[in-house]
Amino acid sequence: MMMPTKNKTHATILLVVCVAVAAAFNVAAAELQRFDHLPVKADGSLDILVIGDWGRRGLYNQSQVALQMGKIGEQLDVDFIVSTGDNFYENGLIDEEDSLFDESFTQVYTAISLQKQWYSVLGNHDYRGNVLAQLNPVLTHKDSKWLCLRSFIVNSGNVEFFFVDTTPFQDKYFTEEDQKYDWRGVLPREEYLSNVLKEVEMALEESSATWKIVIGHHTIFSAGSHGNTQELVDRLLPILEAKEVDLYINGHDHCLQHITSQNSQLQFLTSGGGSKAWRGEVKQWNPNEMKFYYDGQGFMALRVTENEIGVAFYDVFGEIIHSWSSSKHTHMDF
Ligand SMILES: *[C@@H]1O[C@H](CO)[C@@H](O)[C@H](O)[C@H]1NC(C)=O
Repeated sequence: MMMPTKNKTHATILLVVCVAVAAAFNVAAAELQRFDHLPVKADGSLDILVIGDWGRRGLYNQSQVALQMGKIGEQLDVDFIVSTGDNFYENGLIDEEDSLFDESFTQVYTAISLQKQWYSVLGNHDYRGNVLAQLNPVLTHKDSKWLCLRSFIVNSGNVEFFFVDTTPFQDKYFTEEDQKYDWRGVLPREEYLSNVLKEVEMALEESSATWKIVIGHHTIFSAGSHGNTQELVDRLLPILEAKEVDLYINGHDHCLQHITSQNSQLQFLTSGGGSKAWRGEVKQWNPNEMKFYYDGQGFMALRVTENEIGVAFYDVFGEIIHSWSSSKHTHMDF
């Protein structure tokens, strides 16, 4: 049957619009890159270390923290290491040949126990340099433990880690006049942010892991000098709460910190003590929520078993200065 010309035109327009919407949706719904890193221990437990805000050529106790990470990493037989960003100070890497990569990473984290896969996100200081250099596989050829991506997933069986690129969320980096940021791959910004949120939300929705852990550079809540990141409180936190995320782990404030939530199981953990610390600016916080705040250097260890999750914060002497654990019963035991 012949369609009247007018309707035919409408039909064509509708088809074009549908294709365009579908294409846009495909881009928006592009899945996050996913890595399987299943525990290798016979009992299925997973041990990792988390460090943030570190690359300073070994200075400001970076080397001391690295030494203790090496010892604790060996004791715990860690499976991998997470970096919460601000990998290279002050301004990221200039390019793939920048000697900072060697001087602040390869030559510092030399212990055998640390020659495991590192999973890193970018911090705001990394965005001040050449972001594409840190993301470039050339660095993994130089040092096989290195991997840095924007937003991605590491699946470890019982536990799934969702890494989120948080720097583009913070408004002030887009208005600061005295700093330059490398926004290649991020603009148009609003499209980038809504894609990240959509992808993370979808991935959390689809996850069947017992434990869900989200990692980003920026704080959601913090009593440190940077304080809360309102953009993440407004846009990321509601997703984490709705999808019943267990832990949000960040750096940015150069401290070790544990804030508990009063209305969900979500715990806010800061591991940003990889080098320069002792800022001496700590805000008042509700004591019912503030479980621990340490203004100095250190790192965090995380252990996950089928029914239990536990974290421990270590100082520069390798002493545990705070620990916390929680359990879930996934099976009926008779
Ligand atoms: C290194 O760590 C020690 C012990 O916490 C501390 O006293 C010292 O101030 C730290 N040095 C720097 C530069 O932060």
